[in-house]
Amino acid sequence: MRRNDKSNKSMKHLTTSIKNNNPIAPDFYELAFSWDPGNGIPTPGRFLTIRVSESAVPLLRRPFAFSGYDPTTQTATVIYQRRGPATDMLAAKTARDTLDIVGPLGNGFPVPSAGTPCLLVGGGVGLGPVLFLARDLESKGFPVTFVAGFRTRAMVPSPATFNGTHVAVCTDDGTAGFAGTTVDYLETLSTETTKGAVVFCCGPTPMLKGCHEYAQRRGLRCRVSMEQVMACGVGACMGCVVKVKQKPGYARVCKEGPVFESGDLLWE
Ligand SMILES: Cc1cc2nc3c(=O)[nH]c(=O)nc-3n(C[C@H](O)[C@H](O)[C@H](O)COP(=O)(O)OP(=O)(O)OC[C@H]3O[C@@H](n4cnc5c(N)ncnc54)[C@H](O)[C@@H]3O)c2cc1C
Ligand code: FES
Repeated sequence: MRRNDKSNKSMKHLTTSIKNNNPIAPDFYELAFSWDPGNGIPTPGRFLTIRVSESAVPLLRRPFAFSGYDPTTQTATVIYQRRGPATDMLAAKTARDTLDIVGPLGNGFPVPSAGTPCLLVGGGVGLGPVLFLARDLESKGFPVTFVAGFRTRAMVPSPATFNGTHVAVCTDDGTAGFAGTTVDYLETLSTETTKGAVVFCCGPTPMLKGCHEYAQRRGLRCRVSMEQVMACGVGACMGCVVKVKQKPGYARVCKEGPVFESGDLLWE
């Protein structure tokens, strides 16, 4: 397994100001905030933690993956889902409010060798990092197939969110785009198209497992960005471990991850 203990050495604790915090789909928001490149360059798959309130509740910082970074305007973004106390508070913040951030954290998605076809799969709160990766790989000239899964048409973000990046939308109920899961969509791709490809994915664990199994069937490499509930976010508490094949049998998502080679993980 690829260890990356250098990953968090560049992290900073900083206060930054919000530029926008806009809804993009029911319960989903895009948060844009100032990011001085001196704090480290956000790259796809890396994340930050936000302390949403100075009060004791919620006490813990919450992790969110970068969904973009524009060096010209020095603006970073995160796409998040409102699903509990911290994200409720985050959704109530407005432009010019400040954010207490620690980041950039984690290892991020590795860049494949030049010309490698890339199959990108995002779903749920995993949409942001995969969208960031799609834009980044496209700008570097990689052949990219970007697939995003949603429950139903109403959950598909507005086209402005994708901003020209081509995406194959899949819905579970068939109300928009391809009818079926993202893995069902991958199965429709010819073996010619997927030959030598690397699969990159972030989203719900069943989707990650499905992508891993798809990659195994087709003999492809697969990188998954894992989500675990985090306490410290910097490698100290062991609260975010996932089971891996190599000794010692576990790895910290915040420190060795969040991106892992899917074949290194123990899937249950
Ligand atoms: C590396 C990493 C990157 C992440 N990136 C994003 C992102 O880009 N956008 C986004 O919306 N969310 C992301 N998350 C998840 C996000 O951290 C949680 O949604 C957030 O902490 C919820 O806080 P809350 O107080 O609103 O809800 P809570 O009350 O803490 O949780 C609400 C519900 O969500 C579940 N939950 C909370 N945290 C997680 C988690 N980490 N994994 C799985 N289930 C969880 C809880 O079990 C509970 O059922 C990421 C998590 C990790 C570990
Ligand atoms: S959250 Fe503490 S070690 Fe990962």
